[in-house]
Amino acid sequence: MSAGLRVAAERVLAQCRQLALITDVPGQTTRTFLSPATRQAQTLVAGWMEAAGLVVQTDAIGNLRALPRGVARSTPRLLIGSHLDTVRNAGAYDGVLGVLLAVALCALLAPGEVPFAIEVIAFSDEEGVRFGRPFLGSLALIGESVPGTVADSNGITLADAVARFGHQPTASATLDAAAFAYFEFHIEQGPLLEAEQRPLAAVSSIAGQTRQRLTFRGQANHAGTTPMHLRHDALAAAAQWMVELEARALADPGLMANVGSIEALPGVGNVVPGEVILSLDLRHPEDSARHAALDAITPAAHQAAARRGVSCSMETLLDQPAVLMDEALTAALVRAAGQCGYDARPLVSGAGHDAMILARRIPAAMLFLRTPAGLSHHPDEAVLAEDVEAALATGLALLRNLSPSQG
Ligand code: GLV
Ligand code: MN
Ligand code: MN
Repeated sequence: MSAGLRVAAERVLAQCRQLALITDVPGQTTRTFLSPATRQAQTLVAGWMEAAGLVVQTDAIGNLRALPRGVARSTPRLLIGSHLDTVRNAGAYDGVLGVLLAVALCALLAPGEVPFAIEVIAFSDEEGVRFGRPFLGSLALIGESVPGTVADSNGITLADAVARFGHQPTASATLDAAAFAYFEFHIEQGPLLEAEQRPLAAVSSIAGQTRQRLTFRGQANHAGTTPMHLRHDALAAAAQWMVELEARALADPGLMANVGSIEALPGVGNVVPGEVILSLDLRHPEDSARHAALDAITPAAHQAAARRGVSCSMETLLDQPAVLMDEALTAALVRAAGQCGYDARPLVSGAGHDAMILARRIPAAMLFLRTPAGLSHHPDEAVLAEDVEAALATGLALLRNLSPSQG
């Protein structure tokens, strides 16, 4: 491997670590959609994009879009990107690594070396932390924006959040007709590649996911005087349902079920919980299995509630089908990795990615990098410099082999 690639890989890693210090919550890495930290992070990334010779714009949903100067609208365009937002208390590499690898590739290519333009996109939201709905950036790009009236937990609407954001939009959030394919680098976020001592994988498909907000409504009352059999305890109902949910997911190897957020009101030790609001994240590589699971757990929630005289309602925030990556582009990716000496095996992604949204419009492919200890959505998330170098080499080979007609 060339010394230039190792230097570029080290620079990308240093940039990821620098970005991880930009946060809405001191002591963590937490950057949600269009937050003050996001504005700061975008300013830093835009500077790196410009240093790589790119002209940067912010589009109407707050995505950063970077292109070489003077690219005509009709010039065939390959999009390479990922996201800059994070979960709460995140690691340094989820999303960010994909954006910075794209910038590094642009800097490594000589002008005119490939017969198409590369547009780097840093999506403003993939995680969905602020509005409970993921993919706000990529959905806007393909013309399927989430309504501007949805509100965050402070009552700020999506439309207001965009209006208040410090970077004035200079481009509309649209996918140019000349865009012929989308490519994304991302960490695997799981343990498989490490177990196989393999640095890279080509994503074959991405599991579908349902996200819901559930509300259990009972009756708040005095914890010391209300007899146990007369209570309408919303939290006890939710807890029983969560155990049933876990049992169902344990019985189906493809099913992933997660309740990651729970709020019990009024949230006081000596008051029977009267209301519980929780999140459900349900995933499966097969959509029919995900829907069958939902069809079973929905009545289970109503039963757990009814047993206690509690009501239960569900709001679906996302019903995203599983998505196949483009076969031809993925085969080209596997060939490119092979040319560089890497056996990039196909892998199903359990994590969601912007690629699954872009795939609705244009051919999309993804390259995964091994994730040490399989740890992600956690501050100890890591990536190896040698794997970043392998990803850069593979990305360069892919770009040098690719012609716009392959998209
Ligand atoms: C994105 O990180 C996801 O939740 O899969
Ligand atoms: Mn993530
Ligand atoms: Mn991600």
